[in-house]
Amino acid sequence: MLRRLAAHQPAGFAFTPANRAWAEAQITKYPPGRQASAIIPLLWRAQEQEGWLSKPAIEHVADMLGMAYIRALEVATFYFMFQLHPVGSVANIQICGTTSCMICGAEDLVEICKRKIAAKAHTLSADGKFSWEEVECLGACANAPMAQIGKDYYEDLTPERLEWLLDELAAGRVPVPGPQNGRYAAEPLSGLTSLQDFESGRQQYNASVQAAVDIGDTVKRIDGTEVPLIVSWKPKEKPPVAPDVAKPHPADVGVPASVGQALATGRPEVDVPKPPGVAVASPGQVVAPAPEALRPTALEAPRGGVVDDLKVIEGIGPALEKLCHELGIFHFDQIAGWGPAEVAWMDGNLKGFKGRVSRDKWVAQAKLIGAVGKDEFLRRAKTNDY
Ligand code: FES
Repeated sequence: MLRRLAAHQPAGFAFTPANRAWAEAQITKYPPGRQASAIIPLLWRAQEQEGWLSKPAIEHVADMLGMAYIRALEVATFYFMFQLHPVGSVANIQICGTTSCMICGAEDLVEICKRKIAAKAHTLSADGKFSWEEVECLGACANAPMAQIGKDYYEDLTPERLEWLLDELAAGRVPVPGPQNGRYAAEPLSGLTSLQDFESGRQQYNASVQAAVDIGDTVKRIDGTEVPLIVSWKPKEKPPVAPDVAKPHPADVGVPASVGQALATGRPEVDVPKPPGVAVASPGQVVAPAPEALRPTALEAPRGGVVDDLKVIEGIGPALEKLCHELGIFHFDQIAGWGPAEVAWMDGNLKGFKGRVSRDKWVAQAKLIGAVGKDEFLRRAKTNDY
């Protein structure tokens, strides 16, 4: 199935304050330079808030993670769990159409959706309350046919029962999820043949249904106020550093490995080039530079008042571009001129995006832009013709 962004998009997107706090806490779970790993939970949260993922929502998440928009779009359009078109304001009905459900009557359930909601999947009902789609096996095959509605499963469905469910939801009520034919869970339809003692001591609903009833958010949009916020992950405190390991690793100050090894071993015959800002006190000993000594040359303002579009560099999104501007970096040639020391300084000073400069090879990209021009660079990027 082709997955395209909806033709009509809202003007913008913003997380609710509570959802934003939740999203920012998620980002702290990942090591510096790996914030993009939070893309799926953040996109999912945006979808839980709005019901679907609009282009502004995808771009908003990309901005939070310092990702190029295309990278976030790749994720959103790849996974079917992300809805790229508006869904019903009450619920999107997901009918399982895989083997067990199909031979047990899923096609009849689809007919109900076509009649009561819309003739085509991914289309809103006339009142905007519902939408529907057919999905692959949802792992409840023993209770076929079934549908996921909101966050919960409604199992052992008949067309009549599905119609009733839709009417209840339209009236603002949320029917109890789980088996709809009186079964407790996934036991044989004809009743238990073993573990029969179990029936006498069980709770009212099976565990999944009980949890759904207790939480009560089956078809509710999530604005972040309904669950306690997850406390930010904090790294364990590091043990104190012993004096003999206090020397910085050469890589930490941007010294190429071969040079670093020469410095560390103190071989006098090696002609060691000194990276800018790194003082060499005596053979074999690297003196830690003041961090500011390695800082790339900053401009007070862009030359001629015109900035280069740094977002052309893969890995730089609007948030990182803004950060670069704050650090006095406005032009490709500034980045192209960085050596290992400047890269190390930038890697360590990109708040929330540490390690991005080396990971995404900004310098190599900027040099290529300088050599072949922005348009040719973009053409090669599109076709992987580097
Ligand atoms: S086939 Fe429908 S849940 Fe598995």
